[in-house]
Amino acid sequence: MKHQKQNSGNERPERSATAVAHANIALIKYWGKRSLSRNLPAVGSISMTVDSLKTETEVSFEDTLEQDHFELNGKKVKGPARERVSSFLDLIRPTERETYAEVVSTNNFPTGAGLASSASGFAALTLAASRAAGQHLKKKDLSRVARQGSGSAARSVYGGLVEMKRGATPDGKGDYAETLADEDYWDLRLVVVLTAEDGKEVGSTQGMIHAAETSPFYSKWIDEQPADLEAMRQAIVQKNFEKLGELTERSCFKMHGLMMAAQPSLLYWNPTTVMVVQKVRELRSQGIPAYITMDAGPQVKILCLPAWIDNIKQALSTINSIKKLWICKPGPAAEIISREKEKA
Ligand code: DP6
Repeated sequence: MKHQKQNSGNERPERSATAVAHANIALIKYWGKRSLSRNLPAVGSISMTVDSLKTETEVSFEDTLEQDHFELNGKKVKGPARERVSSFLDLIRPTERETYAEVVSTNNFPTGAGLASSASGFAALTLAASRAAGQHLKKKDLSRVARQGSGSAARSVYGGLVEMKRGATPDGKGDYAETLADEDYWDLRLVVVLTAEDGKEVGSTQGMIHAAETSPFYSKWIDEQPADLEAMRQAIVQKNFEKLGELTERSCFKMHGLMMAAQPSLLYWNPTTVMVVQKVRELRSQGIPAYITMDAGPQVKILCLPAWIDNIKQALSTINSIKKLWICKPGPAAEIISREKEKA
């Protein structure tokens, strides 16, 4: 790892830990907040953690530092992104005195482009920082803390299929994620299609506030979410793929519909996004069960079963403007990487 501290003589024990967390893609989307200060979601959500997209983060609390340092993908980060990490660390720091941290993080996929880098990023940061601060938090508590960094991060604490709950109280006690089914339960695939590599124009938090204030469809979205969540839970219990796909695609279009109806409109798509959506519809009309979902960015994720991967790849190969594809399986929960494992 990059910043291995030497622990010599009678120094205090090293307060450092490294964690890995995987991104997750929401099948029933989270869009909207009922509290900004505690980052409480206005709706519950259901996601799949994915194996191929991940963040690895090392946190070291060091008495000699005068401020937090944050390095992402080999580059020093300053400004609002560092501030976001720093104020998040205030929730976790060892309390005996003000102690700053060296945070070194790597994503194996593009950051801030609608590929859930804040989900894997804040889940890995929560686990690494809490362990480095000497805390062994239960998953539910890790999830609650991660949520305060980014709502979707609460789900990346777990593997497989995950539900984030909308709590009922203003303290956020009931706002945490839980496992619905672990990563071995259902052999699903999400084909992640990269249509653009640049960052998103309007971040999720800002987009949610804007949509809540100006979209005429926002209240309907909030009202219908409990029924969508219940239908999705049932589709998962029954392993009904068609139902899973239909509900996933519908939740995506409901969310994008309400974004587009905001004033001014939030439109995250590019021409390639639309080409991929049309290709998936074409495949479906030929009897291939594939369904799309999209987040706050132009990338498309295609939900399918392993048997159809070759047909889908073949169909996508006709769209030259696609930048990259990842074929993802359900991925594991966030975990601490031991030094032994790192060296192996
Ligand atoms: C469209 O978790 O990024 O991906 O809580 O403000 O950090 P903040 O938002 P974030 O929002 C994710 C929105 C989404 C849908 C989803 O993942 O459920």
